[in-house]
Amino acid sequence: MMYMSIILAAGEGTRMKSSVSKVLHKVCGREIVKYVIDATEKAGIDKNVVVLGHSKEQVKDCLQNENVVLTEQPIGNGHPYGTGYAVMCAKEYINDEDTVVLLCGDGPLIKAATIKNLLEYHENGKYALSILTCMFDNPVGLGRIVRNLDGTVDKIVEQKDADDEQIKIKEINTGIFCFNGKLLKEALLKLDTNNSQNEYYITDTVKILGAMGYKIGAFTLNDEREIKAVNDRVQLAEVNKLMQERINELHLRNGVTMIDPSATYVDADVVIGRDTILYPGTIIETKSIIGEGCIIGPNTRIINSEIKNGVSIDNSKVIDSFIDNNTNVGPFAYLRPGTKLGKNVKIGDFVEVKNSTIDDNTKASHLSYIGDAEVGSKVNIGCGVVFVNYDGIKKHKTIVKNGAFVGSNSNLIAPVTLEERAYVACGSTITDDVEEETLAIARARQVNKPGKGKGRF
Ligand code: UD1
Ligand code: CA
Repeated sequence: MMYMSIILAAGEGTRMKSSVSKVLHKVCGREIVKYVIDATEKAGIDKNVVVLGHSKEQVKDCLQNENVVLTEQPIGNGHPYGTGYAVMCAKEYINDEDTVVLLCGDGPLIKAATIKNLLEYHENGKYALSILTCMFDNPVGLGRIVRNLDGTVDKIVEQKDADDEQIKIKEINTGIFCFNGKLLKEALLKLDTNNSQNEYYITDTVKILGAMGYKIGAFTLNDEREIKAVNDRVQLAEVNKLMQERINELHLRNGVTMIDPSATYVDADVVIGRDTILYPGTIIETKSIIGEGCIIGPNTRIINSEIKNGVSIDNSKVIDSFIDNNTNVGPFAYLRPGTKLGKNVKIGDFVEVKNSTIDDNTKASHLSYIGDAEVGSKVNIGCGVVFVNYDGIKKHKTIVKNGAFVGSNSNLIAPVTLEERAYVACGSTITDDVEEETLAIARARQVNKPGKGKGRF
């Protein structure tokens, strides 16, 4: 026997009002459908079939590195529609002896543990089909679980097909099922489109298998947050908030401090070491890795970067960068792609760094631009120094070697090299290389004209 999943992702997602497939919208930085795949894998299912339809090329691209089989549901041109038809399109992958878990690609909050529990319930009860159900105070729009007098499940009725009594039922179909593979295939053959939407409903398999004399199970989920699906942007925002709470709780339990978790935004794939403190307004995105004992924020955005231990970053933005141990960044610094900072570096207020390496113990404390540079260790970059890297056509490189000192308000016109312990007097515009331990002054000498200040007012 094998476990497999079928993940439905062919729907149009009209209510998203988007050019992007619904299942590719991101929740905490990760595409919705990837959460579903992740949950099935964690539940021990290693064969996942994803049914594609609308925007199939986009979804294919997104899933190319995932361990999934892709199949297509033909859309339009008079083809039928509905969840039942979508499952029919995955039929060739279903083996008789498989246990099939059916899920929707638009519900990222489902937990692996719930899938496992459903599988266990299904197997222990020897059901042909088990439905994951949930009690909803406001079940509008969802399929209702209709039970027989003895409590067994009779059928699922869609909202649009429900009568006045059925519409009052609060137990709903979450859209997640567990099937015996052979019986699923038999039931698919018997589906029809005799309903208000003229669709093939997968939910009709309940009635069909029941009528064939098989046992139908219903496993009730207590936490309704887990099955919240994304159908529009309001739900996307709700689901994002719930996912963020879940992610933040995990970090808190792992030893990360958040001053205000509700104002801290950490993507699903981010790693954070213990004893790191996140201040409000911190946003850590994509696959960033933050070390131990860091202080991040407030109001700091870190994208796709690696930060080592003991680093502090205050009110700054960091993209595609690497920061080594005990370095301080900000307030109000901007580290652009290709920035690599060594240990114990200081990048102070209003300093911008791009595509540059800065070695250990170097300081650029205020108001500088460092672009396309290699800066050694123990260098001092004075206030207001500009690495003039661009001549209007090409970018050029600046090299500043260990122990050099660049006085305030200097321009280093690239390509240019300052050798070890070179000393640039403040206010210089440096166009030529400076030799080791050499002082370079490149500015006009001051002229004082006595009396010339008089009588001006
Ligand atoms: C479906 C269930 C309903 C349940 C609800 C839970 C049916 C008939 N109804 O309702 O009982 O309460 O889910 O959310 O199954 N899809 C396809 N191809 C299609 C149609 C849909 O792949 O032709 C996919 C969608 O992309 C989506 C999933 O199936 O991921 C569910 O479709 P959706 O239209 O949202 O389900 P409902 O009709 O609302
Ligand atoms: Ca529908």
